[in-house]
Amino acid sequence: MRDGCGRTIDYLRLSVTDLCNYRCRYCMPTEGVCKRNHREILSVEECAEIAEAAVRLGVKKIRLTGGEPLVRRGILEICRQLRAIPGLEELCLTTNGSLLSELAAPLREAGVDRLNISLDTLRPDRFHDMTRLGSLEDVMAGIGAAEAAGFRDLKLDTVLIGGFNDDEIGDFLHLTMDHPWEVRFIELMPMGPCASWDKSCFLRGAEVLKRYPALQEIEPNGVARRYRLPGAKGTVGLISPMSHEFCSECRRIRVTADGKLKGCLHSREELSLRGLHGEALEEAIHRGILQKPRQHHLGERPSDTPRTMNQIGG
Ligand code: 5AD
Ligand code: SF4
Repeated sequence: MRDGCGRTIDYLRLSVTDLCNYRCRYCMPTEGVCKRNHREILSVEECAEIAEAAVRLGVKKIRLTGGEPLVRRGILEICRQLRAIPGLEELCLTTNGSLLSELAAPLREAGVDRLNISLDTLRPDRFHDMTRLGSLEDVMAGIGAAEAAGFRDLKLDTVLIGGFNDDEIGDFLHLTMDHPWEVRFIELMPMGPCASWDKSCFLRGAEVLKRYPALQEIEPNGVARRYRLPGAKGTVGLISPMSHEFCSECRRIRVTADGKLKGCLHSREELSLRGLHGEALEEAIHRGILQKPRQHHLGERPSDTPRTMNQIGG
């Protein structure tokens, strides 16, 4: 369906938990998040009910997010139930990759079509420093397991941070020579812990093109502008929420793990879907879509949302 600004909304990002086994410095407070009573988090049945209502309203693609979706108990059952919804064209999942060694094959069997794996650095010591709890080895093994399980067109999401990983842009680009992956550089957005970071951390996506002029532009995909190095098997994506205002092309809505519909990642407005069923649930989602804000204001001020990224879903 169309929102109040005439944009087609056909993409739902559904967060299934706000918990994560990592504590990335830009995303999570050091102490992590208080584990909530599990009754505050959508049940498997509620996830499926919300997804079904969204598909009836025209959603064709659903992405499961977190926190880290693979730490959610019942994740495979959620995938199976969502995959069975008639009219859903694509079921995707964004993960930090740490648990894919065990879960890639079961996720594939449960009907997940595509995976995005977050990977901010290729250096083990940096990886541990950024994630506070993570091991690069686990994620690299997870990427291997995803390929072995039959996932194609893997996307690797790299948040570009000045002074942290911008000296690795070349190494990431190099990965695309031999692997059919899309390496995507995402501009750091000022929200949660990183809202107060120094300006020098916030690099423009265009920095990648400036440093690597050999990148040749190819057709875009959604909000990602895409490029390829000559002779490369894989591609490079730039996702620039800060410098490339793509709000007018936004097709997404979000539902948080505690059942709030958000029209925009960065707005305060939330609409609770808890306790609603059937037509009432559809009407609420419809209302949320109509109220989707025209754009964010990250150019002028940090994100308006009081939530950190793990409480929304990246
Ligand atoms: N800016 C950009 N991306 C972010 N993510 C988390 N916080 C931010 C931020 N402030 C990304 C993660 C991951 C996904 C879950 O969200 O790197 O790719
Ligand atoms: Fe976890 Fe992803 Fe946040 Fe890192 S960015 S703490 S992996 S949710």
